[in-house]
Amino acid sequence: MTAHPARPGDHATEYGSVRLSNKLFEQLSGFIHSEVGIKITPVKKVMLEGRLQKRLRKLGMRSFEDYCEHLFSDEGRSGELVNMIDEVTTNKTDFFREPVHFDFLTSRVLPALMKGGKVSAANKLTIWSAGCSSGEEPYTIAMVVKDFMDADGVQPIPFQVIATDISRRVLEKGQRAIYEEEKVVPVPAEIKRKFLLRSKNPGTGLVRIAPEIRSCVSFRRLNFMDGDFGFREKIDVIFCRNVIIYFDKVIQEKLLNKFCKCMKPGGYIFMGHSETLFGMDLPFEQAAPTVYRKIQVGMGRK
Ligand SMILES: C[S@@+](CC[C@H](N)C(=O)[O-])C[C@H]1O[C@@H](n2cnc3c(N)ncnc32)[C@H](O)[C@@H]1O
Repeated sequence: MTAHPARPGDHATEYGSVRLSNKLFEQLSGFIHSEVGIKITPVKKVMLEGRLQKRLRKLGMRSFEDYCEHLFSDEGRSGELVNMIDEVTTNKTDFFREPVHFDFLTSRVLPALMKGGKVSAANKLTIWSAGCSSGEEPYTIAMVVKDFMDADGVQPIPFQVIATDISRRVLEKGQRAIYEEEKVVPVPAEIKRKFLLRSKNPGTGLVRIAPEIRSCVSFRRLNFMDGDFGFREKIDVIFCRNVIIYFDKVIQEKLLNKFCKCMKPGGYIFMGHSETLFGMDLPFEQAAPTVYRKIQVGMGRK
């Protein structure tokens, strides 16, 4: 790695306000697009600059030239890339985000899958939280499904939630399963009582997800840009909410086609409230606003 001398206008005298030139912005945003799929338009240049300045400080670098040279090298791809991804991904999430989806899951999706014999005592229900961020979504799913299975009159079946994200930092938080009390405000009281544990030390303001829920959720790092997602099992339900908005149409359609290949026919996919599959050539039918069902062979499209 070679250190470039500072150029006039390249960075300000203050260490923390290094500037990203338009040329380097284009190279960096192109690199991010090909590695992660995320489209960073020129209006977001200042945001990218701000987020990556933290990395420059951490690495003791004084220019984006140095940073990019390092990042684009073999050494950078196997090391710094992970840290860069932590900075450029947007990880906003919540427990019970877009709660109508969880009502639809228990009132329509689970009964349909169980009635149709798609899932059973011998055939575990598999749900994928794709782009799970720090765990709020997969834990919400697991708590809702466990609560459903616990209800009188339901013949419970085993289930698992696979939680994946590209950001190592959020996956580590998800694995810890510890959250600030303010974060769990949207969790309904009964679910809180059953599945959230208060710290023995009341001053911490933290809660932890109960072991019976944690054991149903497995976290792993997965990049949607990878050719093969490597699942052994076919997926019954995918939650991919508030993720594809960061991708362009071409990548969105490719990704949805890959999701489709991972799913069982008759499986469901939940998208974020501002995301649509409209105009894409996919074997899905709409089940509800922002919820789609994979068409079963021989059933044709509606
Ligand atoms: C805004 S969060 C959505 C979290 C959750 N699904 C929800 O709706 O609350 C988007 C997540 O997608 C992840 N992501 C972005 N690009 C990705 C990629 N190429 N592969 C896997 N995950 C990605 C980000 O790291 C981020 O945690």
